[in-house]
Amino acid sequence: MAKQDTTITVKPCPRLEGEIALPGDKSISHRAAIFNSLAEGKAEVRNFAPGKDCLATVSCLKALGVQISRKGPGNLLISGTGSEGLREASDVLDAHNSATTMRLLSGLLSSQPFLSVVTGDASLRSRPMGRLIKPLQSMGGEIYGRGKDSFAPLVIRGGKLRGIEFVLPLPSAQIKSAILLAGLSAQGKTVLHQPVPSRDHSERLLKRMGAQLESNGASISLSPLTSPLSPLSLCIPGDISSAAYFLVAGAIHPNARVIIRNCGINPTRTGIIDALLAMGARLRIENERLEADEPLADIVVESSELRGIEVAGDMIPRLIDEIPILAVAGSVAKGKTVIRGAAELRVKESDRIASVSQELSKMGVEVEELPDGMVIHGGRLFLGTEVDTHSDHRLAMSLAIAGLIAEGETTIKHAQIAQVSYPSFWQDLLSLRAEVLSRSSERSEAAAKEQRSSLIDFSD
Ligand code: S3P
Repeated sequence: MAKQDTTITVKPCPRLEGEIALPGDKSISHRAAIFNSLAEGKAEVRNFAPGKDCLATVSCLKALGVQISRKGPGNLLISGTGSEGLREASDVLDAHNSATTMRLLSGLLSSQPFLSVVTGDASLRSRPMGRLIKPLQSMGGEIYGRGKDSFAPLVIRGGKLRGIEFVLPLPSAQIKSAILLAGLSAQGKTVLHQPVPSRDHSERLLKRMGAQLESNGASISLSPLTSPLSPLSLCIPGDISSAAYFLVAGAIHPNARVIIRNCGINPTRTGIIDALLAMGARLRIENERLEADEPLADIVVESSELRGIEVAGDMIPRLIDEIPILAVAGSVAKGKTVIRGAAELRVKESDRIASVSQELSKMGVEVEELPDGMVIHGGRLFLGTEVDTHSDHRLAMSLAIAGLIAEGETTIKHAQIAQVSYPSFWQDLLSLRAEVLSRSSERSEAAAKEQRSSLIDFSD
């Protein structure tokens, strides 16, 4: 079967100006869909993230017997089944490219009285799952994976679990949320300690929906449910990870003013704002408010003179997904930008230390790879050239932003991957007066297969 392959050409533009209405936050959307599926009653979720990742979560929940329908563009109506209402899916559950889908659902399915098999695309099947499987097994979960329980596909024979006290070995909100989902119907309390905090959307939503959950940031204590979660209707705040492309675009373009509406500003996610402010960005946060205990605001960003900074430690989980676009800002900034303590980037949708360094080098940037980060020697002009996304949505969009101020044209191959998180990214870029040309061709299954086999093969 042939698939569409898209090449996008970005040309430098004289002015960048306009307003962006962001897609719903991806992390909150996954959780709103999963938790409302377990609630008893109906919930309307507005501004649900339109990317392929969250749609994968919705398809899996439907396959598990949850009724989810569209209610106008961007809105979902979820009829929760209650925590015991899920049923065995008749086929393998496909998380596609989405680690959040795979990890959160695996936590949930470990406590359900039926068999589940969860798989994903070649990239997801090469990402580490041992970190998920081990704590779930210590709760009594029967969960197995390829490569001695290290990789998907995962096989889960759900059953009775017991709560655990567990120190998270890395700041992963996916692992934390998977254990909390398992803990909702375990016997006894689940207590998690997180030496470095990660995004806390699960804690906020679960509490709001009636779970007995206490958190002080460092430790979280969850009691098993004694009654079902209450459904929660909400309008998902805009995704700060998607806003990041335009925050950086506005700051690095010499003639720009961009307004970003309804952007989530949960403090566990605002590392990119703090980093840009530290670099000297002219950025203002206005109209702060709350939606379902999640803070959001409008952000105005204007052309700025950036300087290099060092980013490390507790800051890393607060901007982990924004490091590719931060590297673009660092390339323009005066002086060195150093990113350390981010070895986790090696196991994202691509090895983002290698892929970002490689592609920015093609554009004339001097980048040194470190085992856990990179050193970017900024202050140079980007040179437009042909670049590759490494099948990574965040790389596709970051390279497009570099292209806005490059000398000459930047041609981005396999640019359709942006659909994973931000399907309207190219239209939004055009709406700011950017010059973007798109060329699509049919990609044969043979070419798709060849690309898949070039990924690391972990078959046993
Ligand atoms: C996410 C957590 C982070 C992040 C990912 C989304 C989530 O991953 O990188 O894009 O929604 O919980 P890790 O939990 O692997 O750090």
